[in-house]
Amino acid sequence: MVPSRRVDGHAGRFDPRSPDLVRDPYPVFAELRAAGRPVWSDELGMWLAARYRDADAVVRHRGLGRIYQPRLPEDLWVGFNKLERESVLGCEPPKHTRLRGLLGKAFARGNIERLRPHIHELCQVLLDGVATRTADGQPFDLITEFAEPLPVMVIAELLGIPDSDRHLLRPWSADLVKMNEYERSPAQEAAAQEAAAQFGAYVRALATERLRRPHDDLITHLVQAEQEGDRLTEDELVATVVVLLNAGHEASVNCLGNGMVALLSHPEQQRRLIERPAELAATAAEEFLRFDSPLHLFERTAMADVEIGGVVVRTGERIAALLGSANRDPEVFERADEFDVGREPNPHVAFGGGVHFCVGAPLARVELAIAVRSLMARFPALSFAGTPVRRPTFVQRGWSYLPVTR
Ligand code: HEM
Repeated sequence: MVPSRRVDGHAGRFDPRSPDLVRDPYPVFAELRAAGRPVWSDELGMWLAARYRDADAVVRHRGLGRIYQPRLPEDLWVGFNKLERESVLGCEPPKHTRLRGLLGKAFARGNIERLRPHIHELCQVLLDGVATRTADGQPFDLITEFAEPLPVMVIAELLGIPDSDRHLLRPWSADLVKMNEYERSPAQEAAAQEAAAQFGAYVRALATERLRRPHDDLITHLVQAEQEGDRLTEDELVATVVVLLNAGHEASVNCLGNGMVALLSHPEQQRRLIERPAELAATAAEEFLRFDSPLHLFERTAMADVEIGGVVVRTGERIAALLGSANRDPEVFERADEFDVGREPNPHVAFGGGVHFCVGAPLARVELAIAVRSLMARFPALSFAGTPVRRPTFVQRGWSYLPVTR
């Protein structure tokens, strides 16, 4: 039997726009999980899967699709909507399988492992800059000085964006990513549209150039890519490059920021990491991903009637996987609300699951582990120098300002 949608008190007032929820969603997640099955949210007009087993089932179930839904009026579709529709994130098999196959090789673990020395070097360059600017011991913002520039430098390097153009990427990415939130203004939508147009034109021009003069970079490989005789269309190429920057960048910034706030709030864990960095850097990175996950909600639409955790999601209805809640589920994680840099096993779902499992996960993992190890090696006495400021968004969970001294 399909349970009534209204039996659960809490989901009715689950509002991702609420500042209280953004500040601390974890007590609400615990209440949602206590319902023992997905619950209906009037506010969002969709089911919410808060338990680990339900959220995991949502991202894996083939009857639930990441179906393209225009987020701007169709007369603006040439920009933002089109970028979404043409990318891996906006489609399902068979198109998804083809696009994903073309990306898969570039992001295979072996290729990413080869980037290690380069990522390490980028960390040293950024930290050298911080050391020089704060020689007299004054505080600095860990987000703008380190967490933000690092992922954009890494992805720009991988894609082959020329040094002279890299300053353009961060503002484009910041404008585009606002479209993932439920709370956004017409001005933000216009900015996303403008960023999509500018970034799209930029990638088109660069792709044309790389076709004429190939380099050893990802844009050249995508331009040349052939899989069973199948090339990316120009629109798919542009959308793929944009989504790589956009999907990867904000999540990486927020994950490092969230993880560092957790680490600095737990000095005993910071000491453990400093004493045994080789052993603990990788498990600390996984705990950063689990403990305060940077992406909290992913939607799916039922392509047929689908049962998840005891409720039937009717064809055309939406259901969201609450990944940050799944990652605190005490049914799966011992001491789920404790931050433990040595946690093993740690089967978190911060990267999703199933066919849309994060293609950038190997890169994000390597980047996070090197970043935290480099930071701790250089500034072992790192500590708060003021109160961090949260980004006012629920889906993308992060800090915009994190003052520290070294
Ligand atoms: C801490 C960092 C990151 C987190 C937590 C994260 C998380 C996720 C999640 C949860 C999904 C699945 C979305 C869904 O199921 O609907 C996803 C997909 C994706 N991610 Fe990441 N991501 C991170 C970093 C990156 C990076 C560095 C890149 C690329 C450079 C990247 C590229 C992508 C792409 C292209 C997809 C779509 C895959 C598909 O639909 O097949 N991500 N990511």
